[in-house]
Amino acid sequence: MPPRNTPIDLTMPFKKRTTKREPRKKVKAKTLTAPRGMEDILPAEWPWWDRVAEVMGKIVEAYDLRRIETPVLERVDLWKRGVGEGTDVVEKEMYTLRTKGGEVLALRPEGTSGIARAYLEHRLDKISSLQKLWQMSPMFRHDRPQAGRQRQFWQIGVEIMGGVSDPFYDAQTILIFERLLQDLGLVNVVLKMNSIGCRVCRPSYVRELEKHYKKHAKELCENCTHRLKTNPLRLLDCKEEGCVALREGAPNFLNKLCSACSAHFASVLEYLDELKIPYELDQSLVRGLDYYSRTVFEFSVAGPGEEVGALAGGGRYDYLFEMIGSKPMPAVGGAAGIERLIAAMKSQEVTLPKKKDKRVFLIHVGEASKLKMLGVIEELRKAGICVAESLSKESLSSQLKVAGREGVRLALIFGQKEIFEESVIIRDLSESTQETVPMKRMIEEVKKRLK
Ligand code: HAM
Repeated sequence: MPPRNTPIDLTMPFKKRTTKREPRKKVKAKTLTAPRGMEDILPAEWPWWDRVAEVMGKIVEAYDLRRIETPVLERVDLWKRGVGEGTDVVEKEMYTLRTKGGEVLALRPEGTSGIARAYLEHRLDKISSLQKLWQMSPMFRHDRPQAGRQRQFWQIGVEIMGGVSDPFYDAQTILIFERLLQDLGLVNVVLKMNSIGCRVCRPSYVRELEKHYKKHAKELCENCTHRLKTNPLRLLDCKEEGCVALREGAPNFLNKLCSACSAHFASVLEYLDELKIPYELDQSLVRGLDYYSRTVFEFSVAGPGEEVGALAGGGRYDYLFEMIGSKPMPAVGGAAGIERLIAAMKSQEVTLPKKKDKRVFLIHVGEASKLKMLGVIEELRKAGICVAESLSKESLSSQLKVAGREGVRLALIFGQKEIFEESVIIRDLSESTQETVPMKRMIEEVKKRLK
């Protein structure tokens, strides 16, 4: 070895290898895939997503909801305090990370706590004490991926924050989600309703519930044995056969509500009756997040589409603001899972409304005409006409083939002759007719045919 810092003479021949080297194995680079439970939304899927956004867009206008967006990452304490430390979402499903500065953050598993934090931080109550907000954003839960359950999924959330604990807004929130499902074309919609009381009536009910389940402690599944200690209300929504059977003899919260909660729930149901929205009372509906009080609800569909589970759910959360460190503030809201809405629409064979194709397909023949194409696209864009093309292809027939595949009705063909004569062939692909028109009349002629 030359001593350190001695430049190596690269002109010297390398020493001949004396030992035989093993033939190098060809290692094929592993193809990368998306993380488990996280899905790409490919171009073919977007018409479904656009439909959901379009229907929701009309609803938010009608109900005067304002859009809000919050960071994907929040301090982990927000979720611990808001959603609750004993919940599956916080205990098992959160994606947490430590920043270089030592802060512990988590990817949002749900939207409500972040919106409540933003409401407080920006004093939205100063603008108006009642804020009707909506959100359309991705959420993250490290759950076992299966049908209707991803690790990254999108929610449409609606939050009505502030004012008083008025049952009117519980009913309006439910109405908004009912409208969303109906307007998307879903049928056999099932709405389940329950009330999980308040600080006055819940402790005594939970004691009664514990008493019932302690008598059957040995029959409980592993999860429920844990829940009996940490979150007894959730014993009611266990899907294990043995635990479902134990629910039979459990006390029903609706019979144990205090008079204020009882009157509140009766009023919510009265509004739903007035709106002719059918519902089922379901005492096993307790929801998986700690911030709920009084009204809780969940939408699903029966028959095709039911395999994805609940399409939307929510309820009142009058204690959330206190849990995250503010004065009490009544609020109610809900969220729908977009992937589940789309899966249910497909299961029910909902068809998307046909949209008139407003594109024209640009075709060139020869280099001289290709040179002009960017300028032509620009001219069409300025006139509000959308353009599709496959200009890397050379032959007329292969470009026409793409136009056919794309389902575009009009093709604009520029050959050498047309470029020289400053004209264009407008071809109607559905009727197989064509006409040559002067370039200066191209926009007018295209608009006439697209009408
Ligand atoms: P959530 O019931 O946990 O409520 O979620 C709402 C909806 O998100 C569900 O009904 C479902 O459609 C969808 N969803 C939940 N988890 C997944 C998943 N792993 N994969 C696919 N879709 C999923 C909440 O998140 C509350 N923040 C709702 C709320 C708003 N309550 C009051 N305001």
